[in-house]
Amino acid sequence: MQQSRRNFIKKAGNATLGLTALAGFNPLYAERVLTASKKIAHLSAKEAAKEEDFWYQVQKAFRQSPHFINLESGYFSPQPVEVMESQFDNIKMINEQPSFYMRRRQWQDKQAIKEQLAQFAGVSADEIVVTRNTTESLDTIILGIDLKPGDEAIMCDQDYGSMLETFAMRARRFGLKNVMVSLPLHPKNDNEIVDLYEQAITKKTKVILVTHLINLTGQVLPVRKIADMAHAHGVEVIVDAAHSFAQLDYKIPDLGCDYYGASLHKWLCCPLGTGIMYIKKEKIAKTWPLFGDTGQPVDSIKKFEHIGTHPVSANLTIAAAIKFHNSIGSKRKEERLKYLKNYWIEQVKDLPRVIINTPSADERSSALANFAIEGMQPDEVADYLYDKHKIFTVSINRKAVKGVRVTPHLYTTLPELDLLVKAIRELSAA
Ligand SMILES: Cc1ncc(COP(=O)(O)O)c(C=O)c1O
Repeated sequence: MQQSRRNFIKKAGNATLGLTALAGFNPLYAERVLTASKKIAHLSAKEAAKEEDFWYQVQKAFRQSPHFINLESGYFSPQPVEVMESQFDNIKMINEQPSFYMRRRQWQDKQAIKEQLAQFAGVSADEIVVTRNTTESLDTIILGIDLKPGDEAIMCDQDYGSMLETFAMRARRFGLKNVMVSLPLHPKNDNEIVDLYEQAITKKTKVILVTHLINLTGQVLPVRKIADMAHAHGVEVIVDAAHSFAQLDYKIPDLGCDYYGASLHKWLCCPLGTGIMYIKKEKIAKTWPLFGDTGQPVDSIKKFEHIGTHPVSANLTIAAAIKFHNSIGSKRKEERLKYLKNYWIEQVKDLPRVIINTPSADERSSALANFAIEGMQPDEVADYLYDKHKIFTVSINRKAVKGVRVTPHLYTTLPELDLLVKAIRELSAA
């Protein structure tokens, strides 16, 4: 039984990818979601966001602990069951053919996966690398781009810590000057943000780091407008897309950036330890890899691919995650996530003591949002939610933002959000 299933899986994988060694996956859940999605094909993505029968099928594709409510999906996404099964199959397949697989098969399989991922991201496979996460992607770029002592880099006080620290390290070691702008929590419009970055540009500015979707509050920045403005000044743009990739409906070229990094284990629901790095074709030659590989041409993205022995099974599983994602559709997923966020915020935003730290305009946020209770520390609020109601969130206590981040996901149900609303009402009235 086990053997025949494996044979079937291998055949399915071979048929999809045209490979000899790559294991496929049980298409059950993606097929169910696909069948369900045909029934709502006539609806707009916004209308589909409210179709609970459809989302019930999606929720069933995930297995979540019954012991608490996970509203901290910002750290990483669990894999749908079928994606996880695909990973198990890939682990078994590689374990059965260990060094034979690594010496003879892994490169062609990884190239096939890269091509699928490139297509998903809307770029050429010659411009991307599958990395382990956003940190690896962006730190490689921050340390590898061509900067001289005295050059300036602009970033903001709500960018992710690892990126800010890597810029700080580069400044300390190589004499770069980092310029920090302060991002408003509730910008009036896109121009206010674009102007903020533009005013920080000097003759020495070489690069701007922009976070597409701020992890602290969920705020979405107008990356395209910032990139167009920066390019008009001859300044390059690095985008931290850890949270926007596969959460928002866009392709990388829509952003107009030069460098880009994201984690696939966040919103694409890939195995932990998968990421993407994108470098615009003409910028590859002047960017240094972190790990030595002089065997590749300097203008080839492959010079970034030598990272030593790593769990290839995770890379191979990206195919199953893309298939699952596509069975829902990017626009539908984005609208559902926004619907879930709005569902709870609309019910609590006007309550006494409740402060919403996430902009309200539809285009300025998605699933992630942050709220605070006047007179309470973020930790106290997060602890109340967990201790009293088994609702797991995360407290954010940064100079720029203080509050609790709430992140629903495709597996989040409306009754779970009703309980969150009840808990916030209690806090508001306390
Ligand atoms: C905005 C942002 N950038 C980068 C990262 C780092 O992601 P990873 O730990 O997957 O490298 C995170 C993680 O939450 C993030 O929120």
